[in-house]
Amino acid sequence: MKKQTQFICQKCGYCSPKWLGKCPDCGSWNTFVEETISEKEFSVPQTSVEPISITEVNTVKLFRLKTGLSEFDRVLGGGLIPGAVILIGGAPGIGKSTLALQILANLAKEGLITLYVSGEESASQIKLRAERLNINYSYLYLLTENSLEHILKAIKKIEAKILVIDSIQTMFSHNLTSAPGSVSQIREVTGHLVRLAKSDEITIIIIGHVTKEGAIAGPRLLEHMVDTVLYFEGEKGHPYRMLRAVKNRFGSTNEIGVFEMREKGLEEVKNPSELFLTERSFNTPGSVVVPILEGTRPILVEFQALVTPSFLAMPRRTCLGIDPYRLSLLVAILEKKLGLNLSQQDIFFNVVGGIKVDEPAADLGILTAIASSFLNKVIAPELVFLGEVGLTGEVRAITQPEIRLIEAKKLGFKKCFLPKTNLKHLKNLPIEIIGISQLEEAFNILFP
Ligand code: TYD
Ligand code: MG
Repeated sequence: MKKQTQFICQKCGYCSPKWLGKCPDCGSWNTFVEETISEKEFSVPQTSVEPISITEVNTVKLFRLKTGLSEFDRVLGGGLIPGAVILIGGAPGIGKSTLALQILANLAKEGLITLYVSGEESASQIKLRAERLNINYSYLYLLTENSLEHILKAIKKIEAKILVIDSIQTMFSHNLTSAPGSVSQIREVTGHLVRLAKSDEITIIIIGHVTKEGAIAGPRLLEHMVDTVLYFEGEKGHPYRMLRAVKNRFGSTNEIGVFEMREKGLEEVKNPSELFLTERSFNTPGSVVVPILEGTRPILVEFQALVTPSFLAMPRRTCLGIDPYRLSLLVAILEKKLGLNLSQQDIFFNVVGGIKVDEPAADLGILTAIASSFLNKVIAPELVFLGEVGLTGEVRAITQPEIRLIEAKKLGFKKCFLPKTNLKHLKNLPIEIIGISQLEEAFNILFP
């Protein structure tokens, strides 16, 4: 085995034989680190390989382990699959370790041997968290370790079936000399774990840190190696957490799971709409409710806008939960198409509950909230709004209106502003519909 070194970009994994200031691949500066690589001489195994015709392949129904956290199971597509490797990314303090521990505890309670490996916290720290969560099962094993080789031994020893690695950035293999968290270590350790999962049918949950930009730290490659990539997200200061799949070999990536961080750990939120509307402000201008779609799941959220006279040369446009460019664009439509003079106004916009909305279907709701605050007119509390708004003020069709309307009805809403083009395909209407094709029509009704 011969040893040589290489310079590897810590952001994208680009390799270069010499040091570079700027990565030619991802364009970031000062990210190259020298790492030793060991080149193995590959030998081809002598076993024969037989391709089989697709008609001869039997479909087997995937066996799924229920974790007891149905929101988590939902995101996975119905539960954990033996031999699957799942990567969970999220900001520090969001609750990744808590989630992983709760999942293991539920499975240990059912009699499965589970192992929680932490490279960050001591066993007593984990025990403290476990006490807070009321977890005390003998099948849940803890291990404080950074070395892959030791971890592999421990897995063999207790014959663990479910494994958590908290976090991949703290693990290293003795095969390599580079530091834990470097691209080659992450690649090496993950590669080993994936092979172990497949050969021994062990389910492995890998926790990954995220970078400032919100992507899982380390090379993109990490996401390609695993079966499922989940992101655990939430706004600072809000107790709500959302689990989202961005890659899933065993299910769709459309589902989200909603949790609430409580005193005693993460609780599932079965009906997110109710939660996001509990503190809704009635009879105040600038508040509007919109049935957004998170994956296949409709959620009613409140939009709030505050429009106040500005004393700045460049009035403020501040928003939380929507894209700032979208806001500027919609404000321009309000000015040009409806003649609202917002050039001397500060505009603040917020999606309540820390949810992020990137659906065009929310356009009409955003515009209505801003206009309502600017004109100081209250929007009737039984109304919901749906519609994508184009640059000429036309209101365009949205996707899947039915399930959104049903959710709105469930929560007691009576009427919905909906694009006229959507009406053609709608069969039964759960609530009263006001069909519109131009933004002006809607505003003529709302602000006569
Ligand atoms: P943690 O799981 O350690 O986050 P991560 O592993 O993603 O860094 O969770 C940390 C936060 O969660 C911490 O601020 C305390 C809070 N928390 C609760 O509010 N309730 C609980 O029961 C637990 C265990 C944690
Ligand atoms: Mg942690």
